[in-house]
Amino acid sequence: MKIKNVCVIGAGIMGSGIAQLIATHGYNVNLVDVSEELLKKVKNSIEINLERFFVAKNKITKEEAEKILNRISLNVNKHEAVKDVQIVIEAVFEDMDLKQQLFSELDNLCKKDVILASNTSSLSITDIALKSKNQERIIGIHFFNPAPVMKLIELIKGNNTSDEIVEKSKLFSESLNKTVVTVNDSPGFVTTRLIYVLCNEAINLFTKGIASAKDIDTACKLAFNFPMGPLELSDLVGNDIYYHIGRYLEEELGQKYQPSPLLQEMVESGLLGRKTRKGFYEY
Ligand code: CAA
Repeated sequence: MKIKNVCVIGAGIMGSGIAQLIATHGYNVNLVDVSEELLKKVKNSIEINLERFFVAKNKITKEEAEKILNRISLNVNKHEAVKDVQIVIEAVFEDMDLKQQLFSELDNLCKKDVILASNTSSLSITDIALKSKNQERIIGIHFFNPAPVMKLIELIKGNNTSDEIVEKSKLFSESLNKTVVTVNDSPGFVTTRLIYVLCNEAINLFTKGIASAKDIDTACKLAFNFPMGPLELSDLVGNDIYYHIGRYLEEELGQKYQPSPLLQEMVESGLLGRKTRKGFYEY
């Protein structure tokens, strides 16, 4: 089975970045979300990103950008959107019930050889697959924000994921010019478990007044050569995302993963980071 057509479900920051990346590498993408208006806005922002980060920097031509955009179709009906695809990538809100329900629906809708992938950043792939019949075709394909830029894809093998699906997903991920690591299923996998601890601890330091947000970030950037400090990163990923990850890791792995009280307060006050223009910094 040669992958030509891909369905991406969920047009948030990750879903739209994944759609842009995949279309850039020559695949046709059906991007699905619940509202046509939102999908149009997202396609417009993909167009702006292509112009700003690729055409303006002479990385691709205007014509190539147009071709990439033309490969992205918008659809509010997932039944139609998954008809002729060889892989579905889910990037909806991080909620286990929602994902279990969606995967069971996709499992019924899609032909047996279609790969069903989740871009979850922390939830167990084995659990996401629990309500589906063909659990061997369900896998985690974890992209990083901004998806068109970041070099890694973390593949997560659920307890019931077949080796064949892992291999096909690896080849697909490599065709997107990414380096792949394959990990066994465990809450937060490798990357999220590590980065969450760093960001949460940075928030604890900030809360205790040990250093300003800017100094914590500068310290990490210059001491460890990080491209971004942990508080800037939390704002980029979304403080709500890290809060939910923390709650899940605490539930699954123990109290040491408890999110900082400040993170909870910020989420409750709508200080989610870049997407609300206010978090640890103003945008
Ligand atoms: N799309 C395409 N290209 C982009 C881009 C975007 N959204 N944002 C930046 N770039 C490109 C720029 O054009 C620039 O390219 P050139 O070097 O060729 O000119 C390059 O990236 C560097 O950009 P900038 O100079 O503007 O800024 P920067 O050096 O600070 O890089 C960054 C921006 C790539 C975001 C960098 O700061 C970075 O890597 N930050 C860390 C991001 C990170 O850790 N992401 C993972 C988060 S965890 C996650 O996503 C997983 C999860 O599930 C929670």
